[in-house]
Amino acid sequence: MEYKIAPSLLAADFSRLGAEIAAIEAEADLLHLDVMDGHFVPNLSFGFPVISSIRPATALPFDCHVMTANPGDYLEELAAAGADLVTVHVEAVPDPGPVAARARELGMGFGLVVSPPTPWEAIEPFAEGCELLVVMSVQPGFGGQSFRPEVLGKVETARRWVERHGSAADIEIDGGITADTAPAARDAGANVFVAGTSVFGQEDPASAVRDLRRVIEGAA
Ligand code: DX5
Ligand code: ZN
Repeated sequence: MEYKIAPSLLAADFSRLGAEIAAIEAEADLLHLDVMDGHFVPNLSFGFPVISSIRPATALPFDCHVMTANPGDYLEELAAAGADLVTVHVEAVPDPGPVAARARELGMGFGLVVSPPTPWEAIEPFAEGCELLVVMSVQPGFGGQSFRPEVLGKVETARRWVERHGSAADIEIDGGITADTAPAARDAGANVFVAGTSVFGQEDPASAVRDLRRVIEGAA
């Protein structure tokens, strides 16, 4: 299994984004970017100008987690800003087929996200062809929350689906991932680990990524 670590910029110091990204560049596999609109989630984060201004700062693929109403309306801007992968919530787009098709036309990978209360069955009909299947392990909107172990069953279901269908999709877990919680997510079948507070909230973000990788790869 190939494991990937995706530090979430939401927990970084926004006054020095270039330096924060440079600190983890050599250790991380993806950069996770949380876009929020204050409607779909009760918080605001950052949008296209920030994404495009950090694009030249790194070669890491941008994994854009779109937590907005009507995420399909922003695909052109996201692609132009340099997004490589775009993930949208099935709660925001109950029929994501056209959004997935448009994302691909624009050259981006596409993924679907489920919030903790939403069952796997909500995305299963659309999972075929997704590059990424994302299980939220906190309620979307804020970093720094505690991991919710009750979503692990959903990760197991997603992994079983991927295996049964011979799908190449990655299974991403997002929220509350630390060196303590990551192994259970890995054991359930996750292979992409988003980590905000446990990376950028630490004194030495690069060694925090290395520690996470060590525990994830260690007992696998
Ligand atoms: C929450 C975001 C997460 C968040 C994770 O809505 O989707 O990506 O940045 O932050 P931590 O790792 O602090 O839970
Ligand atoms: Zn996220």
